[in-house]
Amino acid sequence: MKFFIDTANLEQIKEAQALGVLDGVTTNPSLMAKEGIGGRNNILKHYVDICNIVEGDVSAEVIATDFEGMIKEGEELAELHDQIVVKIPMIKDGVKALKYFSDKGIHTNCTLVFSVGQALLAAKAGATYVSPFIGRLDDISTDGLNLISEIRHVYDNYAFETQILAASVRHTMHVIDCAKIGADVMTGPLSSIEGLLKHPLTDIGLEKFLADYKKGN
Ligand code: E4P
Repeated sequence: MKFFIDTANLEQIKEAQALGVLDGVTTNPSLMAKEGIGGRNNILKHYVDICNIVEGDVSAEVIATDFEGMIKEGEELAELHDQIVVKIPMIKDGVKALKYFSDKGIHTNCTLVFSVGQALLAAKAGATYVSPFIGRLDDISTDGLNLISEIRHVYDNYAFETQILAASVRHTMHVIDCAKIGADVMTGPLSSIEGLLKHPLTDIGLEKFLADYKKGN
């Protein structure tokens, strides 16, 4: 299972990269705005800065919602760095854009996916990644993890190569459950990855080992 971090914060990306288990980064316009990154040139530079920190894929989202606009923006993004994955929303023109980029060998991430039907379309269009938003489904009292299971089932039925990127992960249990279901990737905050480290018996055990070592020295 690949671990992506879902942020545009360079310090957090550096911290996650330093842990040695990071496989990529996802961003979206809200995450860029949260870091105060605005204006086309600043945004493009920020994507390059992120690519220079991590070794894996970096999702950069288009703002256009029409086919021509998405193609123009996506090609500009893809030219920035070979780690860039063009993030395309699950709308009608987005499906066409996924197919266009797939035919050109440009990697894509189909975002804002909330149903199996949408995930099926994204795979048919040749998306590299599909991003079902599990946290946002949970927010409206719908089982986000169930969507991951259903997409896994459908993709396995037909051996689709599109990777399931569990997005809108909010906490460590989401990460563990996604791994059990067989999501190919998860993207979440650094805290959701660092939470995997924690167990009280590890802390108690280490404290005891160190105390016993001190007794003999
Ligand atoms: C995915 O690529 C999105 O950026 C993200 O996971 C959305 O998460 P949120 O629902 O916590 O905003």
